[in-house]
Amino acid sequence: MDAAALFQPFHLKSLHLKNCLVMAPMTRSFATGGIITPESARYYQQRAAGEVGLILSEGTVIDRGSSANEPDIPHFHGAPALAGWQHVIDAVHEAGGAMGPQLWHMGLMEDHSSGWLPPTPFEGPSGLDRAGHPKGVQLTDADIADIVAAFGKAALAAKQLGFDCLELHGAHGYLIDQFFWDLTNKRTDKYGGQSLAARTRFAVEVVQEVRRQVGEDFAIILRLSQWKPDDYAYQLAKSPAELEAWLAPLAAAGVDIFHCSQRRFWEPQFADSDLNFAGWAKKVSGKSTITVGSVGLTGEFLSGLRGESAEPRSLDELLRRFNRGDFDLVAVGRPLLADPNWARKIRENRTQELKGFTKESLTHLVTK
Ligand SMILES: Cc1cc2nc3c(=O)[nH]c(=O)nc-3n(C[C@H](O)[C@H](O)[C@H](O)COP(=O)(O)O)c2cc1C
Repeated sequence: MDAAALFQPFHLKSLHLKNCLVMAPMTRSFATGGIITPESARYYQQRAAGEVGLILSEGTVIDRGSSANEPDIPHFHGAPALAGWQHVIDAVHEAGGAMGPQLWHMGLMEDHSSGWLPPTPFEGPSGLDRAGHPKGVQLTDADIADIVAAFGKAALAAKQLGFDCLELHGAHGYLIDQFFWDLTNKRTDKYGGQSLAARTRFAVEVVQEVRRQVGEDFAIILRLSQWKPDDYAYQLAKSPAELEAWLAPLAAAGVDIFHCSQRRFWEPQFADSDLNFAGWAKKVSGKSTITVGSVGLTGEFLSGLRGESAEPRSLDELLRRFNRGDFDLVAVGRPLLADPNWARKIRENRTQELKGFTKESLTHLVTK
């Protein structure tokens, strides 16, 4: 396997990466009272030292009462929480890495299994949860303006703390995606509508405000998924034309990179082409894209979260697509939980030393 192509530097605005490998954002639920801990700083530093080019943090929530549905998710607001993140980015830079926080509002969620509830009711586009059932509250225009401002405030904090970029979590059925999705967005005002392009307005306002706060030179990544929780075959954009109509206003609003979440990167997005989601997103938007999903592993991540193990897999198919120019960056999740040195081992072609993923990797942050 010659993976040298993945180890070319990548430059875009504020991003200066030593290679094209990205640590995918992964919720770890180890924060205490919303504050990321020094152990997490060591965890991220260990991955930076293992040579992954860019680290995207676990989802970290903006300043709204119900932006999280569990208590041990890190906040990205308030002096103590931001001091924790300062420690993280300094540790990553010290190890020669680059990093962006994944800014998150979960939206209208199911109650957490622990029974914990946020201080204010869950909120979403239409007061419908991700199964389409009535729950929580429907956002007013004033709420929406406050959420947009909270994303902007978090973005500015990311820049001020010295992060290299930021990612907005617009995937997997959380708030931004709840606006995209017709099951959860039944609004008839300017934030709703029959077409996916019409339901993109909330995300556009978030991106515009984030861009206004961080300036032109700071890289903004937007994570999107066609699939939805419990409906993995779902496609928001059912054709290349719909995909283009979805992404064009987001690119115009200021997105630099689309992070295209798939469970298996090799699955084609539309008929009559083997291009995957990231491949099509790059083709129709002209923007850089990140691919993700079972790179270097046999099983996919949701089965992994349920406890299924996965074995190392060849990167040949990934490299075929990368060398064809389908996408610019490649994100990996579970391989980096199992082994902080995964990227270095790939660079040095130490394939015999690659590890599989087992659920044991989820029990701790720093790998011994
Ligand atoms: C433990 C765990 C937590 C995750 N948390 C998030 C998250 O906070 N935000 C997000 O966008 N994706 C999250 N994901 C999805 C990953 O970013 C990634 O897309 C997925 O694991 C597929 O990559 P992989 O096959 O290399 O693991 C999570 C995945 C795992 C395994």
